[in-house]
Amino acid sequence: METVVSGIRSTGNLHLGNYFGAIRNFIKMQHEHSCYFFIADYHSLTTHPTPENLHQNVRQVLAEYLAAGLDPEVATLYVQSDLPEVSELYLLLNMNAYIGELERTTSFKDKVRKQPDNVNAGLLTYPVLMAADIIIHRATKVPVGKDQEQNLEMSRKFAKRFNRMYGVDYFQEPYPYNFGEELIKIPGLDGSGKMGKSEGNGIYLSDSEKVIRKKVMSAVTDQGPQTPNSPISEPIQNLFSIMNVVSEPDTLKFFRDRYADCTIRYGDLKKQLAADINQMVAPIRERIEEISENEALLRKVAKMGAEKARESAQKTIREVREIIGFKPF
Ligand code: TYM
Repeated sequence: METVVSGIRSTGNLHLGNYFGAIRNFIKMQHEHSCYFFIADYHSLTTHPTPENLHQNVRQVLAEYLAAGLDPEVATLYVQSDLPEVSELYLLLNMNAYIGELERTTSFKDKVRKQPDNVNAGLLTYPVLMAADIIIHRATKVPVGKDQEQNLEMSRKFAKRFNRMYGVDYFQEPYPYNFGEELIKIPGLDGSGKMGKSEGNGIYLSDSEKVIRKKVMSAVTDQGPQTPNSPISEPIQNLFSIMNVVSEPDTLKFFRDRYADCTIRYGDLKKQLAADINQMVAPIRERIEEISENEALLRKVAKMGAEKARESAQKTIREVREIIGFKPF
């Protein structure tokens, strides 16, 4: 049995990228490993939410975790800010994280490009906080999508550096984990790039059937294949990629064959895709509605998770302080 940690930022509702990149594996792993899944609300502060939004978003993501199938009796579900130990480890790791390497990460460079007016130090040290989240439980496996690969490489770097610096073999190196071979990237339906909250192209687990249909029907396409077996453009490949995770294999094959022999009608492809997404999402959506009204349940889960997670975090902080050389008088 290994220790598993993963988190999702509380910057909005969960979308299909979060589900297929992360949550689906959380559900599978919870019964086999010792799992800690959390809501990254400290991380969400880089985008400056209002106090009302901050709490509302955490609440929503917690309800969605449960609705998607995470069992709080089996896995430890908690809110990141309920673990002040994480911020202490973050501070300690920051001392050995170098500005140059942080500035070179793709996600930081992306943010600088996308939000030049808000390049805060929290964005720069985002991978350090993420490393703290993971190694605070001394986890070895981290179920994430492809976009988090580099952040995890940084986590391994910080864990190894700590060991080297203090001549210990304390932290193990955490590796990204997916049940298939490759880490997953769910694309958006706006032509290129990934599906994401900040990209504004999400199909959410809480979306109604009507909203899903509208989003899928307005997906970017091309003029259609002109010759048999012509290469597939990115927007069409994106539709197929989502179909690959939500539809039956025969359905995907049917449309791929129609593409190959140039008889495909994108309208039909989209209608089928919208129906299949809705079928997958509908039971989760119903549970989200039910659970988000159950204040007592949410409170109980968050409290139970915080207690279990703190126990593990406090042990690590105690040991790390000792390794570093802090001594009580
Ligand atoms: P976040 O909130 O952006 O995404 C949460 C999880 O969903 C995955 N994901 C995707 N996977 C495939 N295709 C997509 N389009 C897609 N969009 C999102 C992400 O890979 C991630 O697994 N930094 C993290 C949160 C975090 C964390 C951690 C994760 C904080 N500390 C420690 C793991 C361990 C983030 O912003 O994820």
